[in-house]
Amino acid sequence: MYTEKVMDHFQKPRNVGEIENPSGVGEVGNPTCGDMMTIYIDVDENEVIKDIKFKTFGCGAAIATSSMITELAIGKTIDEAYNISRNNVADALDGLPPVKMHCSNLATDALQVAIDDYRSKKKK
Ligand code: FES
Repeated sequence: MYTEKVMDHFQKPRNVGEIENPSGVGEVGNPTCGDMMTIYIDVDENEVIKDIKFKTFGCGAAIATSSMITELAIGKTIDEAYNISRNNVADALDGLPPVKMHCSNLATDALQVAIDDYRSKKKK
């Protein structure tokens, strides 16, 4: 049912954890299944994501998509990272079963909320 890449990121998730004093935090929940995800970003003066970590209380697909989105986002500007779509994440994992596509929303939503949080803090 799952590709090798999904299994790899599920079993050895990258960038798990928290960032102390992050530039932005995004926490989202999936109302359908109750799973939760938090993404922390550290943004440098050029608006590049130089560090990113996540914590996910969720299904295997949610963990694999969180892990993959951290790898896709690191080194990108916040504008580029904001445009990562759930299909980009699923494609990078060589596909997700259709029934699990909603799980990848959690990853893209959490990253966008973290970037919004960074932008709103910067305005202050
Ligand atoms: Fe909840 Fe996948 S079943 S995020």
